[in-house]
Amino acid sequence: MGDDRPFFQKYGSYYLKGTGYTVVLAFIGVLFGSIIGSALALMKLSKKLPLKAISVAYIEYVRGTPLLVQIFLVYFGSPFLGLDLSAFTAGCIAIALNSGAYVAEIIRSGINAVDKGQLEAARSLGMNHTQAMRYIIFPQAIKNILPALGNEFVSVIKESSVVSVIGVSELMFQAGVVTGASFKPFLPILIASVIYFILTFTLSRLLGFAERGMNTSD
Ligand code: ARG
Repeated sequence: MGDDRPFFQKYGSYYLKGTGYTVVLAFIGVLFGSIIGSALALMKLSKKLPLKAISVAYIEYVRGTPLLVQIFLVYFGSPFLGLDLSAFTAGCIAIALNSGAYVAEIIRSGINAVDKGQLEAARSLGMNHTQAMRYIIFPQAIKNILPALGNEFVSVIKESSVVSVIGVSELMFQAGVVTGASFKPFLPILIASVIYFILTFTLSRLLGFAERGMNTSD
């Protein structure tokens, strides 16, 4: 006999697992994306031309090609480097590499948004360039950077749905599995969309609170 249990009892665990994967993917992606992005931003701001060129080329290329294509490149390109990556690992790497380019621009623009006079004032007080960046520019830049980094996390939660194409069992992939198992084309996807919305909406509310807290500390 068929399984007559209600929809959620039957398929709830799929969504739970998928949501877990989505959150972990996005977290790992943004975490390593931030590390990559910081390096790229420093390279782009550097006066050493080769470093700057590499960083600019990377950022432009990554932002100028679709994430979907990059995911395939990492997944099907890794064997040529002698790597045998699982879909999940390839997905994490692709998202981190992608997010890195976006984070680099967030950091760079966060630093550039600090008024030039701040650097000049710091230098005229006798600080060298590194000290001025470290003690004067960066503490102000971080207030521009952190909120934007939060938004990047929200974006990546949504963008991570694309790695379902290589079979990472995140939320969108699980919704597809439920579609196949339940013979319902619409409801499973609708539920996935609601879960995505709950994730992103909660997160952006939390970020809003944090941002307001940061501004009152001024
Ligand atoms: N969907 C777009 C793409 O395929 C944007 C990716 C955005 N990525 C990010 N880390 N914010 O390229």
